[in-house]
Amino acid sequence: MTDQNLITAVRENILYITINREKALNALNKATLAELAEAITFANTTDEVRGVIITGSGEKAFVAGADIKEFSDYTGAQGEELARKGHELVFNAIENAKKPFIAAINGFALGGGLELAMACHIRVAAESAKLGLPEVSLGLIPGYGGTQRLTQLVGKGKAIEMIITANPITAHEAEKIGLVNYVVPQSDVIAKATEILNFVKKRAPLAVSAALKAVVASLNNEGYQVETTLFGECFETEDFKEGVAAFVNKRPSVFLGK
Ligand code: CAA
Repeated sequence: MTDQNLITAVRENILYITINREKALNALNKATLAELAEAITFANTTDEVRGVIITGSGEKAFVAGADIKEFSDYTGAQGEELARKGHELVFNAIENAKKPFIAAINGFALGGGLELAMACHIRVAAESAKLGLPEVSLGLIPGYGGTQRLTQLVGKGKAIEMIITANPITAHEAEKIGLVNYVVPQSDVIAKATEILNFVKKRAPLAVSAALKAVVASLNNEGYQVETTLFGECFETEDFKEGVAAFVNKRPSVFLGK
């Protein structure tokens, strides 16, 4: 693997992936997504790997979202393409993987970061983690499957509240609504995820793959395409330009609804 934005290591049949852009709170730029895609393929095609754990570097963030600075001048078509490729190469690729992926959420999991965690099969969160989909405060909607996977995990009512208020929730709240499987002290996040995969490693590999495939098959719907199209359309609005300008200039945004 040609990692620049990831640190990867296989230990005792588990592939550990650390997203390593601490200064940008591990935001997912294109290069990081490409490296993640490579790591997913490696996991799927390497018999030695029985499961994968994804985490973020540093103590502050798992992943603070897609890299806002990278797409600040995107057109609608470019936005739609970003989402489509993201689904194909990373988010759906994780969900459809033959091996279980666990998100070890060590801090902020926002926007594309929560979407990455939700694409994983299991989530373990640090007590200090904050989870949310803040895209509407940028004039966007979640574009990496968030509208679909959050609804699947927590139900329509809570998903709509989280998405349209853009407010993050704590790890304990996330556990209460079924968004994360476990909440542990920050220092134990990787250990807890490893403990879960150590059980999986004792089970029959082909049956584990079949079980993942069967569960995921129950969730497929057309909503991802609707989300991708609407995500692209958001890039054409004045509100999107205002939302991103406000983020980059560290000031509150003033939306006009156009
Ligand atoms: N993209 C690019 N850079 C980011 C980023 C992101 N998503 N999140 C944080 N950063 C950068 C900041 O710009 C800052 O860089 P500089 O030091 O160069 O200014 C650095 O990381 C540290 O961040 P802050 O100074 O903002 O740290 P903070 O402690 O004040 O706030 C935070 C932390 C609340 C997580 C805040 O950084 C934040 O709100 N980040 C953006 C979260 C967000 O909106 N995510 C959704 C992105 S859109 C998306 O994901 C679309 C999709 O569905 C596909």
